[in-house]
Amino acid sequence: MDKLVIEGGYRLQGDVNISGSKNASLPILAASLLTNEQCHIKNVPELDDVITLSTLFQHMGILVKVEGNDVILDTRQISSVEVTYDIVRKMRASVLVLGPLLARFGRARVSLPGGCAIGARPIDIHLKGLEAMGAKIKLEHGYVEALAPAGGLYGARIVCGLPSVTATENLMMAACLARGITVIENAALEPEIVELAEALKKMGAKIKGAGSEKIEIEGQDYLDSLVHTVGPDRIEIGTFIAMAAITEGDMVLRRVKPEQLGSIIEHFRKAGCNITELNSNDVNDGYKDLRVQGPEKLKAVDISTAPYPGFATDMQAQLMACMTVAEGISHIEETIFENRFMHVLELIRMGADISMHSNMAVVTGVKNLSGAPVMATDLRASASLVIAALKAEGRSEILRIYHLDRGYVRLEERLQSLGAKVFREKQ
Ligand code: UD1
Repeated sequence: MDKLVIEGGYRLQGDVNISGSKNASLPILAASLLTNEQCHIKNVPELDDVITLSTLFQHMGILVKVEGNDVILDTRQISSVEVTYDIVRKMRASVLVLGPLLARFGRARVSLPGGCAIGARPIDIHLKGLEAMGAKIKLEHGYVEALAPAGGLYGARIVCGLPSVTATENLMMAACLARGITVIENAALEPEIVELAEALKKMGAKIKGAGSEKIEIEGQDYLDSLVHTVGPDRIEIGTFIAMAAITEGDMVLRRVKPEQLGSIIEHFRKAGCNITELNSNDVNDGYKDLRVQGPEKLKAVDISTAPYPGFATDMQAQLMACMTVAEGISHIEETIFENRFMHVLELIRMGADISMHSNMAVVTGVKNLSGAPVMATDLRASASLVIAALKAEGRSEILRIYHLDRGYVRLEERLQSLGAKVFREKQ
């Protein structure tokens, strides 16, 4: 197991190339299961979660060719519609294959994800939606066994209990090959949903309303091949903003889509960061460069996490790390996941002043943190510990960084190029 060793107190300065979005790549890779034709997905980040999904595909008999950030998939020889616990326990998003498999092959057997470090995370919305489309679902031996009716899934009106991101994606993909029209209400609004819909439309799907609360899909008999370039990772962008913010840094984040960040930019501006859009080299392709300058002293801001375009739960831990050294008292409310404060006790070990009141953390800014050995517990919690360590006085060791490797591409190399003193060591 690797650990990161960080010597804090250095200003981060320079350019950052932003990776393709992890949470957009995973459903788009899963969408390749909807077609018999070759799919070529570009700008896929080289992350452990993508490797896990590729391994899952290979177990199913799918040909997967990975060349740098290009992934080419050929599902013609698919021989299994089963996803084992071994894969799902590594990555809950494996459940994204359920909808496409059921729609194309009429059956699927996917391990039920267990609990998770950040909360219970059930998949009832995915399953109820598929049942509304005619699927018979049994939960047996820890697996979801799903069977489509004779003639395949059919279109249905589905009202999601909560706007779940992966449930919306799963149901959208299933509906593309279902008979008739499916309407998904109370759908999630995240940019990854819009990007998945764009990819599916390139394959011939008929989808209206992605990015709104009501998505309408007219099922097709088959879908075509796909060539798609994945857009930038908005959570990686937010994480680099937090790193510039806490180190009084000056970074230019290359080729981003600022409008996809929801309220993240606004909150870091309120905290005192100077964030400006620069013209990208390629005009009119929707990408911009973003310059982020951190202030001498951050100011406390309050946040409450919310579905997009509200403040992303995936950025809560990173903002909290910044607030530990801000002027004033910050109230941070987590409304999406019930246990997403695992980083709090680790931040306290680094000298943060944080008290917990149910789903609210009250952070009183201190002058500085002090480096310490800390334990990463989940992906974004790990990022928050890196952010804190970049600021802290002295040396920190972040253990169990396999969590970090699930979501950030070669983070230590990129931080080194910005002037950070960061090293990866064997634990
Ligand atoms: C996705 C993201 C994850 C992010 C989360 C919230 C991917 C691969 N992952 O996860 O990074 O933190 O959105 O923005 O895109 N829920 C149910 N029943 C369900 C499904 C969800 O009760 O069937 C609840 C969840 O427990 C949670 C809320 O709905 O409280 C939102 O979760 P959801 O949007 O589903 O998160 P994921 O799609 O798993």
